[in-house]
This record gives sequence, structure tokens and C-alpha cells, in this order.
Amino acid sequence: MLEWLAMEFLGSHILSIDQFERTDIEKIFSTSDSLVPYAKRERITRVLQGAILSNMFFEPSTRTRISFGSAFNILGGEVRETTGIEATSLAKGESLYDTSRVLSGYSDIIVMRHHEAGSVNEFAEASRVPVINGGDGDNEHPSQALLDLYTIKKELESKNKSIDGLRIALIGDLKYGRAVHSLCKVLCLYQNVTINLISPKKLKLPSSIKKSFKESSVSFFETDDITKGISEVDIIYMTRIQEERFSSKSESGKYKGLMSLNQEIYTKNCEPNTIIMHPLPRDSRPDANELDPDLNQNPNLAIYRQTDNGLLIRMALFSLVLGVQNKIEESTSNVAWFSNK
Ligand code: CP
Repeated sequence: MLEWLAMEFLGSHILSIDQFERTDIEKIFSTSDSLVPYAKRERITRVLQGAILSNMFFEPSTRTRISFGSAFNILGGEVRETTGIEATSLAKGESLYDTSRVLSGYSDIIVMRHHEAGSVNEFAEASRVPVINGGDGDNEHPSQALLDLYTIKKELESKNKSIDGLRIALIGDLKYGRAVHSLCKVLCLYQNVTINLISPKKLKLPSSIKKSFKESSVSFFETDDITKGISEVDIIYMTRIQEERFSSKSESGKYKGLMSLNQEIYTKNCEPNTIIMHPLPRDSRPDANELDPDLNQNPNLAIYRQTDNGLLIRMALFSLVLGVQNKIEESTSNVAWFSNK
């Protein structure tokens, strides 16, 4: 019945979580599941042999850049990348249009991150190959939302629950956090989701996203008191104050440390086995300490399961966009090296 709504992945740009329906998300997740033996290095595939990814990160990144690059390598492709504007001819005044026209002649697919909202869309319009949004300013981070949702699904399944009916607390910088923006949008596709929005008053979630909640079946409330919002949820999703989006460090500094979670707060306020997530990086400097290291041994801390899932989701996106999801088995072999993943 919903099949006609499914998006065409082949050759498509992946720019916003808005482009997905539930059936598309299910396709990405089932493809991710099928890729586990390759991510775990139990099997090797060369299905993308000869293909080139341009991994263009004009803004800092650790996990998005490396996991997209590793995902492409695991599928057998080659990766060319750049980090920072200063290392490219954008610093000499070249336009995004020219950069895109040129780079798309060198590659089969491009992942791009940039500090300006809307820049990846502009880049994609000029590109001759598919472009994946690796994060554009304070706007969106669609692959992060997909890996977050995949993690939520897996964590809930282990407790015999599903995403429909999810209760989640989103905490921190909800104004500028692009991972939160994309996650909120995708949660609107599910039934009876409750979202507790916990942020300093000046860093509330944008009204446009709250409007989407009202148009779907998501219910929400807002507070600036972390202890009020974390007591009856399945998932706590912490975020970092996005200091790079503020006019100065003294401005962002006003909000640092206001929203912190540690084992004591967790034990005192949360239901047993509440899952703790964070898109990372967490700001571990003493004035921020948003997710205390004393939670590191808490088995409900899912942050590294999230990052591992990022590899699977990004492999799935490449497979679907480049149309090789059903050809992987044809080019597999056993690994030759020691692996205990
Ligand atoms: N979650 C995330 O986008 O991390 P990086 O900035 O390290 O890529």
C-alpha cells in the first residue's frame, strides 16, 4: 500500500531527513542489518571496486568523516578527502558551484559538510553525482538521525519495545543542534512518541520543528530543569552546546555546564535501564562536562553502539544510492587478518 511512496535511492542526493518515509527508513535499516558481517570484518566485499568517494569536510569532524570514509573503503571503494576550507580553493574565492562541478568530475559520490545552513543543497544542485549531507550549519545532519534512530530501534528491541510509543528526553542546545533537528523530524514518522525538550530558555528547539510535532502524533513539553524531564523516559539524548554557532565564546560560555548528566543524577531521577545517548563529540572540559565520565561503565550508555551503527548506516546509504545492495554477495571473500570485533 505504501510502496508507491517509497523514494528512489538510486542516484539520489541525501540532503534532508524530510525526504524519507517510514518504508525508506525500513529499507535503510534492513540493508544495514545485512551489512553487519562486513562492518565486523567477518567478510570482505569489493562491490565498489573502482568507485571514488570525495569526502569534503569544510568543518571539523571525527566520526562522520572517518565513518563515511571507512564505510566506502569497506565496500571496496577509494576515498579522496579534504578537511577545512583553508586547504581548498574556496579560501581563494572559488564558489561552491565551481567546486561542485569540478569535484563531481573526479568522483562517483560526494559527502560534504559545511558551516552554512543550505550550503550542501547548493552544492548538490551543481553536482553531476549524488551528494550526501554530512551536516550543514545548524540545519540538518540526516545520516546522524538515521544512525540514532537505528540505535534507538535496537536498544528498544532488546527491551521488547518499538519506536512507536517511544519516550525520549532531548537535552542541551536544541536551538543550534542539527543532529537533534534531524532526529525530531524523523520521529514525526512514528506513532505516539513523547519528547521532553530540556534546554536553557534561549536554546529552545526552533518553532518550525515544534510545528511538525503538532502536525504529527508527537506530544512534547519544554523545561529548563533536567531533573523534571528525565524521570519517565526510555532514552536520554544529551547534546553539546554548539559553541561554533555563537557570536563569541563568552556568549556560548553562558550555557556551558547548565545541562550535565552524571551517575548520581541518573540514579536519583531515572527509571532503571534508561538508555543514554549523545551524537558526540561530548564536551568533556571541566566547565561543560555534559556527560560525566563516571557514566562510562554504565551498561546503558549507548554512545559507542551509536558510533558503531554509524558505519552500518553509511555503508547502507552508499549501497542504496549506488545501486549495489543486491550485488554484495557476488564479490565476497573471507578476511585474511586477525579480527576480534
Ligand atoms: N556526530 C558528529 O557529527 O560527530 P563529528 O562532528 O565528529 O563528525
